Amino acid sequence: MQTRRDFLMRATSSAFLTTVASRTWAEPEPPQSRLVARQASVQLAPPAYPQTEIWGYDGTMPGPLIRVRQGGRVVRRLLNDLPQATSLHWHGLRIDNAMDGVPGLTQQAVATGASFDIDFVAPDAGTYWYHAHNRSMEQVARGLYGALVVEEPERPDVDRDEVLILDDWLLNQDTAQIDADFSRSHDRSHAGRLGNFIATNGQYDHSLDVRRHERLRLRLVNAANARIFELALSGLNGWVMALDGMPLERPQPLSDTVLLGPGQRADLFVDVVAEEGKTAYLVRVDNGEGFVQSAFPVMPGSSNARANMPDPLPPNPDMGAPDLAQARRLRLHMGGGAMGRLRSAVLDGERRTFREMAEANQFWAFNDMIGMTAAPLAELSLGEPVRLEIVNDTAFPHAMHLHGMHFHEIATDGTLGPLRDTLLSYGGQTREIAFVAHNPGDWLFHCHMLSHAESGMMTWMRVV
Ligand code: C2O
Ligand code: CU
Repeated sequence: MQTRRDFLMRATSSAFLTTVASRTWAEPEPPQSRLVARQASVQLAPPAYPQTEIWGYDGTMPGPLIRVRQGGRVVRRLLNDLPQATSLHWHGLRIDNAMDGVPGLTQQAVATGASFDIDFVAPDAGTYWYHAHNRSMEQVARGLYGALVVEEPERPDVDRDEVLILDDWLLNQDTAQIDADFSRSHDRSHAGRLGNFIATNGQYDHSLDVRRHERLRLRLVNAANARIFELALSGLNGWVMALDGMPLERPQPLSDTVLLGPGQRADLFVDVVAEEGKTAYLVRVDNGEGFVQSAFPVMPGSSNARANMPDPLPPNPDMGAPDLAQARRLRLHMGGGAMGRLRSAVLDGERRTFREMAEANQFWAFNDMIGMTAAPLAELSLGEPVRLEIVNDTAFPHAMHLHGMHFHEIATDGTLGPLRDTLLSYGGQTREIAFVAHNPGDWLFHCHMLSHAESGMMTWMRVV
């Protein structure tokens, strides 16, 4: 009898795979693998510091990198081995609402010791991520996130494909432990919980050896609670290929900086132009000053230089552009926060003054309502085009994330910008997005500055 393991070994070591693969591999159910959310200790700070206790998927931070072909299935059993209930959200994926992972809206939170079966098809190629969505402000800050890469049917012309997850942590500077006060009202009412320790893939000295002329695909993910990353290249010549998973129609040369709000992603193609023996960098720009976010030491030897700029990545399927003339108009007024103008808003059906809101540790309101309401912001019919004006009447930036569907920003000249799932809006701005309500279900729409989400900035839309 042939065991599955024998089969795998034989299949991968012979030409057998290419001839029988499509039928043999398509049929069986994918193996049920587990994803365990649990406590662990990792060396996050430099070696002179103690290990940091984190919560991570399979005890790692970031969690395991999940790679799947476009149209492939993701099947996992989430096991909760944490001291509190959890849930798992697939950020940026146009999937079945039942797999969206929002407690109280799409499922119950998964209790300690319980499990949840994940099974969905990944419709779009691109860079996505998964993270806890129960008490996200705490659970994501403790490390419950990872990247999901959905591969294009044909491999783009790059030498390497690397995921760089950017995050910051609020660490005690003696013990290197994650600050466990997740309810600080200053964070909630201002810019959110900002860390004092910044790293890539959980490595403070993240570095990848490269060779001159190599073309790398860098999949950047901002997993921070509140930090906006402004990024630039040094010794690298690059293009923005995709934003929030979705390919740009034309690669955009990255000569200046790219901004990533919490939850946002950018796929870059970068050519190594630094000389052998030198180091290229992904640079984080903070108040006009540059810091190393990731280093790329240039090793001996070189790849063949590509003269051309990269071809665009293939578009994802069924991304019909919304018909603006027919679109239903909606408006979202964002108010509150420190230095804001909000005088009062409604919490659990009762009007509260801003002072009463602050006593309840709530600081923000969408259209005068604090946090989740029984009725959705809008009930949309399947296939309906929508334009949604977002008025940021606060003193702070917010990263507004729509679950389950991507949208375009409408430029001032009326044209549609690139597809995104998270809009970074600054204090005082009025911006407008448009989308086709093509995915049925109850979809959260919230600020991805997670302390803001937890203190008022959360609503939802229903598509039926
Ligand atoms: Cu990345 Cu509602 O989440
Ligand atoms: Cu916000």
